[in-house]
Amino acid sequence: MPKAIYILNGPNLNLLGTREPEIYGSDTLADIEKSCVKNAKEAGFEIVFKQSNIEGELVDMIQEARDKASALIINPAAYTHTSVAIHDALKTLDIPAIEIHLSQPAKRESFRRRSYVAEAVTGTISGFGANSYELGLQAAIKLLKT
Ligand code: DQA
Repeated sequence: MPKAIYILNGPNLNLLGTREPEIYGSDTLADIEKSCVKNAKEAGFEIVFKQSNIEGELVDMIQEARDKASALIINPAAYTHTSVAIHDALKTLDIPAIEIHLSQPAKRESFRRRSYVAEAVTGTISGFGANSYELGLQAAIKLLKT
């Protein structure tokens, strides 16, 4: 069994399902986790799925992934647009890292157009609702298999 694929989630994503469903959809984070675990298992991978509202905890999770993960998928939520600490932590990784968003930040308020994360990851997937997680997972698995 290869090392797990880490999927990390930032602030307020614990409220998915009830939080602005017109933007983020009606799936809960638990629904998304369940479908990621199922899809990864079919491809022979394990998932470690975590969420925190606290920036430093997300940095700790990224550092943990340096040793324990084969790839990292992250929805940094609002920290996408503010966090040099998360940018710096991602820069220490030598595994594939994929930034994902449910919504398409480029189409929203101007403060969401800046991503500190985009400069530190392999690639970004955004705008596909809960499917962004599935597409991010597919991208990670493809990178790991080639
Ligand atoms: C988000 C987009 C961010 O701008 C926002 O702060 C979030 C969620 C998304 O998944 O669309 O919390 O990362």
